[in-house]
Amino acid sequence: MDSESYDINLGNKDTETRKKASEDFISFWDEQAKKLSWFTPWEKTLDWNPPFAKWFVGGVLNASYNALDRHQSTKAEKPAILWEGENGDSKTLTYKDLFFQVKKFSNVLKSLGIQKGDRITIYLPMVPELPISMLACARIGATHTVVFSGFSSSSLKDRIIDSKSKIVITADGGFRRGSVVKLKEVVDDAIQGLDFVKNVILLERTKTPVNLNSKDKWWHDLMKDSSPDCEPEKLSSTHPLYILYTSGTTGKPKGVLHGTGGYLTHLQSTYKWAFDIKDSDVFFCTADIGWVTGHSYVVYGPLLHGATEVMYEGSPDFPDISRMWDIIQKYKVTIFYTTPTALRMFMKFGDEIPNSFDLSTLRLLGTVGEPINPEVWKWYYKIIGKEKCPIIDTWWQTETGGMILSPLPGLESILLKPGSATYPIPGVDMAIVNEDGKEVPPNNKGYLIIRNPWPGMLLTLWGDDEKYKSVYWSKYENAYYTGDYAIKDQDGYFWLLGRADDVLKVAGHRIGTAELESSIVSHSDVAEAAVCGIPHDVKGEAIIAFVVLKEGIKKNEETLRTEIVKEIRSGVGPIATPEQLYFVSRLPKTRSGKIMRRLLKAIAKNEKIGDVSTLEDGAAVSEVQSAFDELQKSFAKNKKN
Ligand code: WTA
Repeated sequence: MDSESYDINLGNKDTETRKKASEDFISFWDEQAKKLSWFTPWEKTLDWNPPFAKWFVGGVLNASYNALDRHQSTKAEKPAILWEGENGDSKTLTYKDLFFQVKKFSNVLKSLGIQKGDRITIYLPMVPELPISMLACARIGATHTVVFSGFSSSSLKDRIIDSKSKIVITADGGFRRGSVVKLKEVVDDAIQGLDFVKNVILLERTKTPVNLNSKDKWWHDLMKDSSPDCEPEKLSSTHPLYILYTSGTTGKPKGVLHGTGGYLTHLQSTYKWAFDIKDSDVFFCTADIGWVTGHSYVVYGPLLHGATEVMYEGSPDFPDISRMWDIIQKYKVTIFYTTPTALRMFMKFGDEIPNSFDLSTLRLLGTVGEPINPEVWKWYYKIIGKEKCPIIDTWWQTETGGMILSPLPGLESILLKPGSATYPIPGVDMAIVNEDGKEVPPNNKGYLIIRNPWPGMLLTLWGDDEKYKSVYWSKYENAYYTGDYAIKDQDGYFWLLGRADDVLKVAGHRIGTAELESSIVSHSDVAEAAVCGIPHDVKGEAIIAFVVLKEGIKKNEETLRTEIVKEIRSGVGPIATPEQLYFVSRLPKTRSGKIMRRLLKAIAKNEKIGDVSTLEDGAAVSEVQSAFDELQKSFAKNKKN
């Protein structure tokens, strides 16, 4: 941990907010919720039936009303989205334009029979029609489930089946690094045999030839005659706004379900506190809307505030590594929010590239998704922020809905420490505990937990209350288990140390080892597989796979490797491609059959078994030692080949 600290504040010195929140977090959030527009106020602020929280019970509102309608009298002509296509196309949508499109598309969905409570899967690239689709769902009370457009057809299919979506919205193709990803083909594959999918709405983006089926309808045809009048549905505060699938420790992704009133309250508050948003700002979050950061801080957070934001379609290093700086210069971006992986990549290319752009409009910088190394933090601070912008390192999860740990320069002044996400936001009580749930002393590593409900928290896992209870609320009594390791230092600053479970964070993307392993074993020559993450200087973590082949397989290893990688790409998606793949004769396991990933990691990192101090689950030291030796031998042999 770095002992340096940086005093960059933006002049906000509110101390009352924290005080109120610590005295009574329920009435504190009650106050915050009043900043949204409600059709009917709530009767009860929090109905806490652990571990199920209902926020603002009895309150009636609409997310799209809060994002669009309420800005029309003051901000109709203000740009909402400054869209930049990967190929240099650009488009500006004002609040009026966005409102118009959303209402029209709401009527399209209605005309196709969509009703309040129905689910809709959205599989689109980063184009304005993606937030338009989401807001239209929200307007009529349909629950959207956005699937990242880099996921494979089988991942998409699992999500469509689990959510029982009646409609899938996609495009003919999406641009990625100058080539076209044929999204429509992926969707055709995914919905084969799914009778409950009634229609596919197809946006023309790349003009890639497509085969039209009876369920397909072109976006532009449907929109042509659709009426621009559509009243927002009056929805209860706990109405499900969206499902977002995320990886956990089991083979199947979990459908994290978010409500409306609590979720929006969390975003309304954190967007202001963290980003210090002002009417004159130009906000740019580089996240894809397919992940939670895009839901919360590309779509709902900025639009709730009537902010102007840049939305970029493509890859951050296309056509070259200066693309982000070019966009910041072009749109005079004032607030920039990105990932440590992107920063590590930019940093590798040196200072000269960012130094040759005008980045002087920047006033605040943020990161999200993975721990940021102090040296990258300092580079960001010095080279991008020119030592005048605070950096907010924001820790949160798909499940938390919005930021939970972060400096809040829009609220208060705080000393920043490179690599620390500082403190919990007001109203959230966190601790670092040991296996038994006891708080560990300062500067000791432990599990990060949250000890009270917060408004952005997930309602449950879609269709599986039991799993919701067991995954998050069973390890510790009355506390939410985050799955992360952390340390709290002597000054109360939190330092995140990565996942404590079998979830990987590769280039900031959340990937479950079990999902990966199940796609590897779906190759007919594979008997068993184990995957773990090893440190990577750009991606934070890289995937390494150990594969045991079935008896008697004589195929060439290179051929097999190529086939297995293909299997992973089609099972999960290209983001899950392993960095290294080794064939081994057996896997080290505990007596109860659990694969010992820490051992695999140690082998891959060329560490000694003694470094893997405590062995899990009663595995005998001698058994483990022999498995380790054997594996190390076959690993070394493999490496030579
Ligand atoms: C990790 C992303 C360190 C963490 C918003 C968490 C972080 C997981 C940070 C959730 C951060 C997120 N510092 N680690 N600032 N932010 N993480 O659901 O391990 O994609 O549990 O949500 O990302 O990933 P998810």
